[in-house]
Amino acid sequence: MKTNDGKLVVVSGASRSGKTAYVRKAVKGEKRIMAWDPEDQWSRLPGWRRVTTVTELLRYAESPKNYKVGFVARGDLKEPFDAWAEAVFNAGVFVGPVVAIAEELSDVTTPSKAPGNWGVLLRRGLKRGIDIYAISQRWAEADKTAVGNASYFVLFRQSSGDDIRYLSRKTRVAESEIAGLKPLQFVMLNSADGSIVRDTLKF
Ligand SMILES: Nc1ncnc2c1ncn2[C@@H]1O[C@H](COP(=O)(O)OP(=O)(O)OP(=O)(O)O)[C@@H](O)[C@H]1O
Ligand SMILES: [Mg+2]
Repeated sequence: MKTNDGKLVVVSGASRSGKTAYVRKAVKGEKRIMAWDPEDQWSRLPGWRRVTTVTELLRYAESPKNYKVGFVARGDLKEPFDAWAEAVFNAGVFVGPVVAIAEELSDVTTPSKAPGNWGVLLRRGLKRGIDIYAISQRWAEADKTAVGNASYFVLFRQSSGDDIRYLSRKTRVAESEIAGLKPLQFVMLNSADGSIVRDTLKF
């Protein structure tokens, strides 16, 4: 069966290294986006809506219209994160193309297999054409399913030696190169062909 694969972009870096700014540029021009937005950043951008309940989120997920929504959850994040992942999966598979952005995955996943509907989104959503941007400051502490399925790695300056070692092992980008990155500088690896691009984010 021919599948129209989505891409999974794993974005890694310390605070203020450039992760969110990179993804903002990458999704410019996308028409339907659902962001897991616990820090309430995406929802404040021009043209974006803030959603705070699962009921509202599902209303978007069932709509064939264009939208950019940030789902802002508070308190215990695990349950709303699972609901968000399920909503994205259903929107992308049953309604129309959708892009997923997940901020700070180390808060809602662990180094074991991706939990629940996030795992479903990663394993089956990609095959059904959903593009996913998975962001964390600490991939050594976030789920391995995302890292194992990544189409691209975008590595910014890291905050810890653990993350440098872990990402170097997963990407074969040298530890010394990752350790030498300045804020806004990044290395992008294409997992499919092993090609590497080095660049600096510009505004
Ligand atoms: N539109 C913009 N114009 C100019 N500078 C910007 C813009 N957006 C972000 N920056 C700057 O770029 C740097 C990286 O910001 P960004 O929000 O991408 O960091 P981050 O890696 O997502 O950090 P965190 O993990 O804290 O979310 C910051 O110094 C920020 O002030
Ligand atoms: Mg950010």
